[in-house]
Amino acid sequence: MIALEPLVRRHVERFGVAERAFQAPGRVNLIGEHTDYTGGLVMPAAIDFNTVAVVGPTKGGRSVIHSVDFKKEFEFDASALPEKAKHDWTDYPAGVLWSLKQSGVVTPQFTMTLQGDVPLGAGLSSSASIEVAVALAALALAGKSMALTDVALACKKAENGFVGAQSGIMDQYIACCGVKDHALVIDTRDLGSRAVPLPSDVRLVICNSMVKHSHAGGEYNERRAEVEEGSRALRAANPDIHELRDARLEDLEEARGSMSENAFLRCRHIITENVRVEEAATALAAGDMKRMGELMAEAHASYRDDFAASCPEVDLLVELAAAEPGLIGARLTGGGFGGCTVNLVEAAHAEAFRRDIHSAYLERAGIDAEIYLCQAAAGASELTLAK
Ligand code: GLA
Repeated sequence: MIALEPLVRRHVERFGVAERAFQAPGRVNLIGEHTDYTGGLVMPAAIDFNTVAVVGPTKGGRSVIHSVDFKKEFEFDASALPEKAKHDWTDYPAGVLWSLKQSGVVTPQFTMTLQGDVPLGAGLSSSASIEVAVALAALALAGKSMALTDVALACKKAENGFVGAQSGIMDQYIACCGVKDHALVIDTRDLGSRAVPLPSDVRLVICNSMVKHSHAGGEYNERRAEVEEGSRALRAANPDIHELRDARLEDLEEARGSMSENAFLRCRHIITENVRVEEAATALAAGDMKRMGELMAEAHASYRDDFAASCPEVDLLVELAAAEPGLIGARLTGGGFGGCTVNLVEAAHAEAFRRDIHSAYLERAGIDAEIYLCQAAAGASELTLAK
């Protein structure tokens, strides 16, 4: 978590006055991958890594966002926002301002200092945490309020329409609505959700393969296009199917001849994944951690084999985890093609798990992995500035 006081001091040193501050967390997804743009189910938890945005009035008439992490300043005119992505860190705040403007939210000129500790490009939604922190700050500057699910939708629009990643709603939703010590089962069809407590004797251990991924363009959008192809074929074959969430495996088998083999496999992952999320929610709520672990293992195999979204390093981390005492379940989390595994580990074994995985991965892959012991955190909020 980013410490507020030093960040406020930085803002004041650079810009003179700090007025308000907002934070939004990263996330880890326990189960339900690539289902969130097909009306499907997901089960993420917000984590105790976040982004903080401190804001104040303009200094000199224009707007300036200072990124502590990138050691850069982005200066612009808030009344004539950039309309195109520059393919760097500024796309996230600029995209959010662009998106909010379409909902009638216009900020006066302002200054902002941004800092985050969500590992970048690791599949833990650093981008959503920046977007949501900036969105809350922008709403405050504009004197407007918005329901948290609408904030999430506005941030998703920034991601889709400005940044260029065709991602779903999960990351922005959980950054907005996360509940401390709980995972959230989100139905992305109606945007309803329910919180499921994580047992107090279980730790969330996140292993970073250090293989970087990026969502704007590349494999994520490719997979999404394959899913769209399969969904189109299913809709054409059956008028009761509006989106992939409505399809059963039998429907997919019947329509197999009218889609590519890749589209078939991607859709099979999503259809079976929705069933697994439902079951996982039931298992977790009942404290049936054995079943929860089995479902995570099945989800990883489906993500690896049918969705083809894993990589050898991540598969190795999952394999190493399976051999560890105290492991409940392990799988690739997030958008795929690198990034992190999420591991549910019995608390008493968590430290040893971290040590063992680190040294075994170093030995087998030659990579110095970062391993984080996380807590499920609350969603975005305003932070109180000391007087
Ligand atoms: C990324 C996207 C999400 C979701 C996941 C995969 O994190 O931003 O919308 O699709 O990948 O589950």
